[in-house]
Amino acid sequence: MTRGVDRAVNIAGLRRLAKRRLPAFSFDYVDGSAEDEISGADNRRAFDDAKIVPRQLTGISEADPSTSLFGKEWAFPLAIAPTGYNGLLWRKGDVVLARQAANSGLIFTQSTMSSSSVEDVAEAAPGLRHWFQLYVLKDREATRTLVERARQAGCEALVVTTDVAALGNRERDKRHFVRPQVLSLRARLDIARRFHWCLNVALPGLPDFGNLREFLPKGAGALDGATYIAREMQGALSWRDIEWLRDIWPHRLVVKGLLHPEEAADAVRLGADAIVVSNHGGRQLDGAPSPLRVLDQVRSRVGGDCALLMDSGVRRGSDILKALARGADGVLSGRAMLYGLAAGGPDGVNTAIDILRSEFVRAMILSGVGSTRDIDARILFDPDGFIPSTGFSSHKNVMALARAGRDL
Ligand code: FNR
Ligand code: LAC
Repeated sequence: MTRGVDRAVNIAGLRRLAKRRLPAFSFDYVDGSAEDEISGADNRRAFDDAKIVPRQLTGISEADPSTSLFGKEWAFPLAIAPTGYNGLLWRKGDVVLARQAANSGLIFTQSTMSSSSVEDVAEAAPGLRHWFQLYVLKDREATRTLVERARQAGCEALVVTTDVAALGNRERDKRHFVRPQVLSLRARLDIARRFHWCLNVALPGLPDFGNLREFLPKGAGALDGATYIAREMQGALSWRDIEWLRDIWPHRLVVKGLLHPEEAADAVRLGADAIVVSNHGGRQLDGAPSPLRVLDQVRSRVGGDCALLMDSGVRRGSDILKALARGADGVLSGRAMLYGLAAGGPDGVNTAIDILRSEFVRAMILSGVGSTRDIDARILFDPDGFIPSTGFSSHKNVMALARAGRDL
Protein backbone atom coordinates (compact mmCIF):
# COMPACT_ATOMS: atom_id res chain seq x y z
CA MET A 1 0.00 0.00 0.00
CA THR A 2 1.39 3.40 -0.96
CA ARG A 3 2.35 5.34 2.13
CA GLY A 4 -0.51 7.23 3.72
CA VAL A 5 -3.27 5.96 1.43
CA ASP A 6 -4.36 3.31 3.94
CA ARG A 7 -4.97 6.06 6.47
CA ALA A 8 -7.22 8.15 4.20
CA VAL A 9 -10.73 7.86 5.60
CA ASN A 10 -12.45 9.93 2.94
CA ILE A 11 -11.90 11.70 -0.39
CA ALA A 12 -10.77 14.84 1.47
CA GLY A 13 -7.97 12.75 2.99
CA LEU A 14 -6.86 11.61 -0.45
CA ARG A 15 -6.95 15.22 -1.62
CA ARG A 16 -4.60 16.20 1.23
CA LEU A 17 -2.18 13.43 0.22
CA ALA A 18 -2.38 14.49 -3.43
CA LYS A 19 -1.57 18.06 -2.45
CA ARG A 20 1.50 16.90 -0.58
CA ARG A 21 2.72 14.68 -3.38
CA LEU A 22 2.08 16.78 -6.49
CA PRO A 23 3.95 19.88 -7.58
CA ALA A 24 1.73 22.90 -6.92
CA PHE A 25 1.19 23.64 -10.63
CA SER A 26 -0.20 20.19 -11.22
CA PHE A 27 -2.27 20.04 -8.03
CA ASP A 28 -3.87 23.38 -8.93
CA TYR A 29 -4.57 22.18 -12.46
CA VAL A 30 -6.60 19.30 -10.99
CA ASP A 31 -8.14 21.05 -8.01
CA GLY A 32 -8.93 24.45 -9.50
CA SER A 33 -12.10 25.75 -11.09
CA ALA A 34 -12.58 28.88 -13.22
CA GLU A 35 -12.24 32.50 -12.02
CA ASP A 36 -13.76 33.02 -8.57
CA GLU A 37 -14.57 29.30 -8.35
CA ILE A 38 -18.22 30.12 -7.61
CA SER A 39 -19.48 27.22 -9.71
CA GLY A 40 -16.84 24.97 -8.18
CA ALA A 41 -18.16 25.88 -4.73
CA ASP A 42 -21.80 25.61 -5.84
CA ASN A 43 -21.16 22.04 -6.96
CA ARG A 44 -20.44 21.21 -3.33
CA ARG A 45 -23.07 23.49 -1.84
CA ALA A 46 -25.86 21.93 -3.90
CA PHE A 47 -24.99 18.47 -2.58
CA ASP A 48 -24.62 19.80 0.96
CA ASP A 49 -28.00 21.55 0.76
CA ALA A 50 -29.81 18.46 -0.52
CA LYS A 51 -31.12 16.51 2.44
CA ILE A 52 -32.39 12.99 2.75
CA VAL A 53 -35.16 12.04 5.19
CA PRO A 54 -34.05 8.66 6.53
CA ARG A 55 -36.57 5.87 7.01
CA GLN A 56 -35.90 3.88 10.14
CA LEU A 57 -38.10 0.89 10.77
CA THR A 58 -37.56 -0.78 7.43
CA GLY A 59 -35.63 -3.82 8.57
CA ILE A 60 -33.15 -3.08 5.76
CA SER A 61 -29.61 -3.85 6.90
CA GLU A 62 -27.97 -4.46 3.53
CA ALA A 63 -28.09 -2.60 0.25
CA ASP A 64 -27.11 -3.61 -3.26
CA PRO A 65 -25.30 -0.78 -5.07
CA SER A 66 -25.53 -2.36 -8.51
CA THR A 67 -27.67 -1.10 -11.35
CA SER A 68 -27.59 -1.35 -15.13
CA LEU A 69 -26.89 0.97 -18.02
CA PHE A 70 -27.33 0.38 -21.74
CA GLY A 71 -28.60 -3.09 -20.91
CA LYS A 72 -25.46 -4.10 -19.03
CA GLU A 73 -24.78 -4.71 -15.38
CA TRP A 74 -23.07 -1.77 -13.65
CA ALA A 75 -21.57 -2.78 -10.28
CA PHE A 76 -21.99 0.68 -8.82
CA PRO A 77 -23.41 3.74 -10.63
CA LEU A 78 -20.05 5.50 -10.93
CA ALA A 79 -18.06 6.18 -14.08
CA ILE A 80 -14.60 7.67 -14.11
CA ALA A 81 -14.90 11.04 -15.88
CA PRO A 82 -12.68 11.92 -18.83
CA THR A 83 -9.70 13.95 -17.70
CA GLY A 84 -6.69 15.04 -19.73
CA TYR A 85 -2.99 14.82 -18.74
CA ASN A 86 -3.51 11.93 -16.29
CA GLY A 87 0.11 10.89 -16.83
CA LEU A 88 1.12 14.07 -15.08
CA LEU A 89 -0.33 12.72 -11.83
CA TRP A 90 1.00 9.17 -11.96
CA ARG A 91 2.99 7.31 -14.55
CA LYS A 92 0.55 5.74 -17.04
CA GLY A 93 -2.31 7.30 -15.09
CA ASP A 94 -4.95 6.37 -17.68
CA VAL A 95 -3.99 2.71 -17.59
CA VAL A 96 -4.06 2.73 -13.78
CA LEU A 97 -7.55 4.26 -13.72
CA ALA A 98 -8.83 1.93 -16.44
CA ARG A 99 -7.57 -1.22 -14.69
CA GLN A 100 -9.11 -0.27 -11.36
CA ALA A 101 -12.38 0.56 -13.13
CA ALA A 102 -12.36 -2.85 -14.83
CA ASN A 103 -11.60 -4.64 -11.54
CA SER A 104 -14.49 -2.86 -9.83
CA GLY A 105 -17.05 -3.16 -12.63
CA LEU A 106 -17.08 0.59 -13.29
CA ILE A 107 -16.94 2.52 -16.54
CA PHE A 108 -13.78 4.37 -17.55
CA THR A 109 -14.06 7.36 -19.87
CA GLN A 110 -10.83 8.12 -21.66
CA SER A 111 -10.15 11.72 -22.69
CA THR A 112 -9.00 12.73 -26.16
CA MET A 113 -6.20 14.40 -24.19
CA SER A 114 -5.22 11.29 -22.27
CA SER A 115 -1.55 10.44 -21.91
CA SER A 116 -1.95 6.83 -23.09
CA SER A 117 -3.53 6.03 -26.43
CA VAL A 118 -7.00 4.49 -26.69
CA GLU A 119 -5.38 1.29 -28.00
CA ASP A 120 -2.95 1.05 -25.07
CA VAL A 121 -5.76 1.44 -22.56
CA ALA A 122 -7.95 -1.16 -24.29
CA GLU A 123 -5.09 -3.63 -24.28
CA ALA A 124 -4.08 -2.99 -20.68
CA ALA A 125 -7.59 -3.38 -19.25
CA PRO A 126 -9.42 -6.32 -20.80
CA GLY A 127 -13.11 -6.52 -19.96
CA LEU A 128 -13.29 -2.79 -19.30
CA ARG A 129 -16.41 -0.83 -20.12
CA HIS A 130 -14.39 1.67 -22.09
CA TRP A 131 -15.84 4.98 -23.24
CA PHE A 132 -14.00 7.49 -25.40
CA GLN A 133 -14.46 11.22 -24.88
CA LEU A 134 -14.11 13.24 -28.04
CA TYR A 135 -12.89 16.75 -28.45
CA VAL A 136 -13.85 17.53 -32.03
CA LEU A 137 -10.86 18.73 -34.06
CA LYS A 138 -11.10 21.39 -36.76
CA ASP A 139 -9.75 18.82 -39.18
CA ARG A 140 -12.73 16.54 -39.97
CA GLU A 141 -10.55 13.71 -41.23
CA ALA A 142 -8.44 13.75 -38.07
CA THR A 143 -11.65 13.68 -36.02
CA ARG A 144 -12.96 10.79 -38.08
CA THR A 145 -9.68 8.96 -37.49
CA LEU A 146 -10.01 9.38 -33.72
CA VAL A 147 -13.59 8.12 -33.80
CA GLU A 148 -12.58 5.14 -35.91
CA ARG A 149 -9.72 4.32 -33.56
CA ALA A 150 -12.12 4.36 -30.61
CA ARG A 151 -14.40 1.96 -32.51
CA GLN A 152 -11.52 -0.36 -33.40
CA ALA A 153 -10.38 -0.34 -29.77
CA GLY A 154 -13.81 -1.64 -28.76
CA CYS A 155 -15.17 1.45 -27.03
CA GLU A 156 -18.78 1.08 -25.99
CA ALA A 157 -19.67 4.77 -26.14
CA LEU A 158 -18.48 8.01 -27.64
CA VAL A 159 -18.80 10.94 -25.25
CA VAL A 160 -18.89 14.29 -27.03
CA THR A 161 -17.91 17.18 -24.80
CA THR A 162 -19.85 20.32 -25.69
CA ASP A 163 -18.90 22.88 -23.05
CA VAL A 164 -15.44 24.00 -24.18
CA ALA A 165 -16.37 26.62 -26.82
CA ALA A 166 -13.57 28.56 -25.13
CA LEU A 167 -11.27 27.23 -22.44
CA GLY A 168 -12.35 28.32 -18.97
CA ASN A 169 -10.37 31.06 -17.30
CA ARG A 170 -8.33 29.08 -14.77
CA GLU A 171 -6.64 31.73 -12.71
CA ARG A 172 -4.99 29.26 -10.35
CA ASP A 173 -3.14 27.80 -13.33
CA LYS A 174 -1.98 31.16 -14.55
CA ARG A 175 -0.13 31.92 -11.35
CA HIS A 176 2.36 29.13 -12.03
CA PHE A 177 3.33 30.24 -15.52
CA VAL A 178 5.26 33.24 -16.79
CA ARG A 179 3.77 32.69 -20.23
CA PRO A 180 1.82 29.83 -21.79
CA GLN A 181 3.61 26.56 -21.11
CA VAL A 182 6.59 28.18 -19.38
CA LEU A 183 6.64 27.54 -15.64
CA SER A 184 7.81 30.25 -13.27
CA LEU A 185 11.05 29.83 -11.34
CA ARG A 186 9.04 29.37 -8.19
CA ALA A 187 7.00 26.57 -9.78
CA ARG A 188 10.23 24.88 -10.91
CA LEU A 189 11.73 25.05 -7.44
CA ASP A 190 8.54 23.59 -6.06
CA ILE A 191 8.88 20.64 -8.45
CA ALA A 192 12.35 19.91 -7.11
CA ARG A 193 10.87 19.37 -3.64
CA ARG A 194 8.50 16.61 -4.82
CA PHE A 195 10.90 13.72 -4.78
CA HIS A 196 8.41 10.92 -5.40
CA TRP A 197 6.69 12.76 -8.22
CA CYS A 198 10.04 13.49 -9.92
CA LEU A 199 10.95 9.83 -9.71
CA ASN A 200 7.58 8.52 -10.83
CA VAL A 201 6.51 11.09 -13.43
CA ALA A 202 9.25 13.47 -14.54
CA LEU A 203 12.28 11.21 -14.68
CA PRO A 204 10.85 8.60 -17.09
CA GLY A 205 10.00 11.55 -19.37
CA LEU A 206 7.00 13.85 -19.18
CA PRO A 207 3.93 12.23 -20.73
CA ASP A 208 2.70 13.28 -24.15
CA PHE A 209 -0.76 12.76 -25.72
CA GLY A 210 -1.15 9.15 -26.84
CA ASN A 211 -4.11 9.83 -29.13
CA LEU A 212 -2.53 12.74 -30.94
CA ARG A 213 0.89 11.28 -31.75
CA GLU A 214 -0.11 10.38 -35.28
CA PHE A 215 -0.99 14.00 -36.07
CA LEU A 216 2.35 15.34 -34.87
CA PRO A 217 5.86 15.16 -36.30
CA LYS A 218 7.98 12.25 -35.05
CA GLY A 219 9.66 12.91 -31.73
CA ALA A 220 7.20 15.66 -30.80
CA GLY A 221 6.92 16.05 -27.02
CA ALA A 222 4.31 17.01 -24.47
CA LEU A 223 4.53 20.71 -25.28
CA ASP A 224 4.01 20.14 -29.01
CA GLY A 225 0.92 18.11 -28.18
CA ALA A 226 -0.47 20.88 -26.00
CA THR A 227 0.20 23.44 -28.74
CA TYR A 228 -1.46 21.20 -31.31
CA ILE A 229 -4.61 20.72 -29.29
CA ALA A 230 -4.87 24.43 -28.46
CA ARG A 231 -4.64 25.24 -32.17
CA GLU A 232 -6.60 22.36 -33.65
CA MET A 233 -9.47 21.81 -31.24
CA GLN A 234 -12.80 22.98 -32.59
CA GLY A 235 -14.15 24.59 -29.46
CA ALA A 236 -17.64 25.66 -30.44
CA LEU A 237 -19.82 22.83 -31.69
CA SER A 238 -23.26 22.99 -33.26
CA TRP A 239 -26.15 20.56 -33.66
CA ARG A 240 -24.76 19.76 -37.11
CA ASP A 241 -21.68 18.27 -35.42
CA ILE A 242 -23.86 16.09 -33.22
CA GLU A 243 -25.78 14.92 -36.30
CA TRP A 244 -22.53 14.13 -38.09
CA LEU A 245 -21.15 12.18 -35.13
CA ARG A 246 -24.44 10.31 -34.77
CA ASP A 247 -23.99 9.36 -38.41
CA ILE A 248 -20.42 8.10 -38.22
CA TRP A 249 -20.51 6.48 -34.73
CA PRO A 250 -22.40 3.18 -34.67
CA HIS A 251 -22.57 2.63 -30.89
CA ARG A 252 -23.87 4.58 -27.89
CA LEU A 253 -23.56 8.34 -28.19
CA VAL A 254 -23.28 10.38 -25.00
CA VAL A 255 -23.49 14.19 -25.01
CA LYS A 256 -21.58 15.76 -22.13
CA GLY A 257 -21.70 19.26 -20.73
CA LEU A 258 -25.36 20.30 -21.09
CA LEU A 259 -27.27 22.07 -18.33
CA HIS A 260 -30.33 23.38 -20.17
CA PRO A 261 -33.33 21.01 -20.22
CA GLU A 262 -34.24 22.06 -23.79
CA GLU A 263 -30.78 21.26 -25.10
CA ALA A 264 -30.88 17.88 -23.41
CA ALA A 265 -34.21 17.14 -25.10
CA ASP A 266 -32.82 18.26 -28.49
CA ALA A 267 -29.78 16.01 -28.07
CA VAL A 268 -32.07 13.06 -27.38
CA ARG A 269 -34.11 13.95 -30.46
CA LEU A 270 -30.93 13.80 -32.55
CA GLY A 271 -30.17 10.33 -31.26
CA ALA A 272 -28.11 10.76 -28.10
CA ASP A 273 -28.35 7.67 -25.89
CA ALA A 274 -27.33 9.52 -22.74
CA ILE A 275 -26.69 13.04 -21.50
CA VAL A 276 -24.07 14.02 -18.95
CA VAL A 277 -25.50 17.02 -17.13
CA SER A 278 -22.33 18.83 -16.14
CA ASN A 279 -20.65 22.19 -15.58
CA HIS A 280 -17.25 20.58 -16.19
CA GLY A 281 -16.47 20.57 -12.48
CA GLY A 282 -16.84 24.37 -12.42
CA ARG A 283 -13.88 24.72 -14.77
CA GLN A 284 -15.67 26.45 -17.64
CA LEU A 285 -18.31 29.19 -17.13
CA ASP A 286 -17.98 30.51 -13.61
CA GLY A 287 -21.52 31.24 -12.51
CA ALA A 288 -23.07 28.16 -14.09
CA PRO A 289 -25.32 26.34 -11.61
CA SER A 290 -24.46 22.99 -10.11
CA PRO A 291 -25.89 20.24 -12.33
CA LEU A 292 -27.69 18.83 -9.28
CA ARG A 293 -29.89 21.94 -9.22
CA VAL A 294 -31.18 21.40 -12.78
CA LEU A 295 -31.25 17.62 -12.84
CA ASP A 296 -34.93 17.10 -12.03
CA GLN A 297 -35.95 19.65 -14.68
CA VAL A 298 -33.76 17.89 -17.24
CA ARG A 299 -35.27 14.56 -16.24
CA SER A 300 -38.84 15.81 -16.63
CA ARG A 301 -37.99 17.26 -20.02
CA VAL A 302 -36.23 14.20 -21.52
CA GLY A 303 -38.59 11.65 -19.98
CA GLY A 304 -37.73 8.21 -18.73
CA ASP A 305 -36.22 6.57 -21.82
CA CYS A 306 -32.94 8.46 -22.07
CA ALA A 307 -30.08 7.65 -19.71
CA LEU A 308 -29.14 10.63 -17.58
CA LEU A 309 -25.74 10.97 -15.94
CA MET A 310 -24.37 13.89 -14.00
CA ASP A 311 -21.02 15.08 -12.72
CA SER A 312 -19.41 17.97 -10.87
CA GLY A 313 -18.77 17.91 -7.16
CA VAL A 314 -19.21 14.25 -6.24
CA ARG A 315 -17.05 13.64 -3.15
CA ARG A 316 -19.27 11.39 -0.99
CA GLY A 317 -21.29 8.26 -1.51
CA SER A 318 -24.36 10.13 -0.26
CA ASP A 319 -23.86 12.58 -3.18
CA ILE A 320 -24.47 9.68 -5.54
CA LEU A 321 -27.64 8.79 -3.66
CA LYS A 322 -28.83 12.41 -3.95
CA ALA A 323 -28.06 12.51 -7.69
CA LEU A 324 -30.02 9.31 -8.27
CA ALA A 325 -32.90 10.64 -6.17
CA ARG A 326 -33.02 13.73 -8.41
CA GLY A 327 -33.30 11.60 -11.54
CA ALA A 328 -29.79 10.54 -12.58
CA ASP A 329 -28.99 6.96 -13.56
CA GLY A 330 -25.42 7.38 -12.42
CA VAL A 331 -22.61 9.86 -11.87
CA LEU A 332 -19.18 10.58 -13.28
CA SER A 333 -16.32 11.38 -10.97
CA GLY A 334 -13.31 13.44 -12.00
CA ARG A 335 -11.35 14.85 -9.10
CA ALA A 336 -12.23 12.24 -6.47
CA MET A 337 -10.55 9.63 -8.69
CA LEU A 338 -7.64 11.93 -9.56
CA TYR A 339 -6.89 12.69 -5.91
CA GLY A 340 -6.69 8.94 -5.39
CA LEU A 341 -4.46 8.50 -8.44
CA ALA A 342 -2.09 11.26 -7.38
CA ALA A 343 -2.05 10.11 -3.75
CA GLY A 344 -1.06 6.53 -4.50
CA GLY A 345 -1.51 5.22 -8.05
CA PRO A 346 -3.48 1.93 -8.13
CA ASP A 347 -3.84 1.80 -4.32
CA GLY A 348 -5.08 5.35 -4.28
CA VAL A 349 -7.66 4.80 -7.02
CA ASN A 350 -8.84 1.62 -5.32
CA THR A 351 -9.17 3.46 -2.05
CA ALA A 352 -11.15 6.27 -3.71
CA ILE A 353 -13.53 3.75 -5.29
CA ASP A 354 -13.89 1.76 -2.04
CA ILE A 355 -14.61 4.91 -0.05
CA LEU A 356 -17.34 6.09 -2.42
CA ARG A 357 -18.85 2.61 -2.70
CA SER A 358 -19.00 1.94 1.02
CA GLU A 359 -20.34 5.44 1.72
CA PHE A 360 -23.02 4.91 -0.94
CA VAL A 361 -24.08 1.55 0.49
CA ARG A 362 -24.19 2.94 4.03
CA ALA A 363 -26.23 5.96 2.90
CA MET A 364 -28.67 3.62 1.13
CA ILE A 365 -29.12 1.50 4.26
CA LEU A 366 -29.56 4.53 6.51
CA SER A 367 -32.12 5.93 4.07
CA GLY A 368 -34.04 2.68 4.08
CA VAL A 369 -33.43 1.69 0.47
CA GLY A 370 -32.08 -1.76 -0.26
CA SER A 371 -31.79 -1.46 -4.00
CA THR A 372 -30.89 1.29 -6.48
CA ARG A 373 -34.30 0.68 -8.10
CA ASP A 374 -35.95 2.10 -4.98
CA ILE A 375 -34.07 5.41 -5.05
CA ASP A 376 -36.29 8.29 -6.10
CA ALA A 377 -37.24 11.84 -5.14
CA ARG A 378 -39.38 10.57 -2.27
CA ILE A 379 -36.31 10.07 -0.10
CA LEU A 380 -35.43 13.77 -0.37
CA PHE A 381 -36.47 16.55 1.94
CA ASP A 382 -37.61 19.16 -0.54
CA PRO A 383 -36.63 22.84 -0.20
CA ASP A 384 -40.10 23.78 1.05
CA GLY A 385 -39.77 21.30 3.85
CA PHE A 386 -42.44 19.01 2.45
CA ILE A 387 -41.96 15.36 3.35
CA PRO A 388 -43.46 13.18 0.64
CA SER A 389 -45.23 9.95 1.38
CA THR A 390 -43.25 6.96 0.25
CA GLY A 391 -45.41 3.90 0.52
CA PHE A 392 -42.29 2.18 1.83
CA SER A 393 -42.54 -1.34 3.12
CA SER A 394 -42.24 -0.33 6.75
CA HIS A 395 -45.34 1.81 6.38
CA LYS A 396 -47.23 -1.01 4.70
CA ASN A 397 -46.14 -3.38 7.46
CA VAL A 398 -47.35 -1.04 10.16
CA MET A 399 -50.71 -0.75 8.43
CA ALA A 400 -50.90 -4.53 8.16
CA LEU A 401 -49.98 -4.95 11.81
CA ALA A 402 -52.47 -2.33 12.83
CA ARG A 403 -55.19 -4.01 10.78
CA ALA A 404 -54.29 -7.39 12.22
CA GLY A 405 -54.46 -5.86 15.69
CA ARG A 406 -57.95 -4.50 14.99
CA ASP A 407 -59.14 -7.85 13.66
CA LEU A 408 -58.11 -9.71 16.78
C1 FNR B 1 -11.54 17.54 -16.63
N1 FNR B 1 -12.70 17.42 -17.38
C2 FNR B 1 -12.61 17.04 -18.70
N2 FNR B 1 -13.73 16.79 -19.43
C3 FNR B 1 -13.65 16.36 -20.69
O1 FNR B 1 -14.68 16.13 -21.33
N3 FNR B 1 -12.42 16.16 -21.28
C4 FNR B 1 -11.25 16.39 -20.63
O2 FNR B 1 -10.18 16.18 -21.17
C5 FNR B 1 -11.33 16.87 -19.30
N4 FNR B 1 -10.20 17.13 -18.59
C6 FNR B 1 -10.28 17.40 -17.25
C7 FNR B 1 -9.13 17.49 -16.49
C8 FNR B 1 -9.20 17.67 -15.11
C9 FNR B 1 -7.95 17.73 -14.31
C10 FNR B 1 -10.46 17.80 -14.48
C11 FNR B 1 -10.57 17.99 -12.99
C12 FNR B 1 -11.61 17.74 -15.24
C13 FNR B 1 -14.03 17.51 -16.73
C14 FNR B 1 -14.46 16.16 -16.15
O3 FNR B 1 -14.76 15.23 -17.15
C15 FNR B 1 -15.71 16.28 -15.26
O4 FNR B 1 -16.73 16.92 -15.96
C16 FNR B 1 -15.44 17.01 -13.94
O5 FNR B 1 -14.17 16.67 -13.43
C17 FNR B 1 -16.51 16.66 -12.92
O6 FNR B 1 -16.34 17.31 -11.72
P1 FNR B 1 -15.56 16.68 -10.44
O7 FNR B 1 -15.97 15.24 -10.30
O8 FNR B 1 -14.10 16.82 -10.75
O9 FNR B 1 -15.99 17.56 -9.33
C1 LAC C 1 -10.05 20.67 -18.56
C2 LAC C 1 -10.30 20.61 -20.04
C3 LAC C 1 -9.12 20.53 -20.84
O1 LAC C 1 -11.02 20.65 -17.82
O2 LAC C 1 -11.24 19.67 -20.35
O3 LAC C 1 -8.88 20.80 -18.12
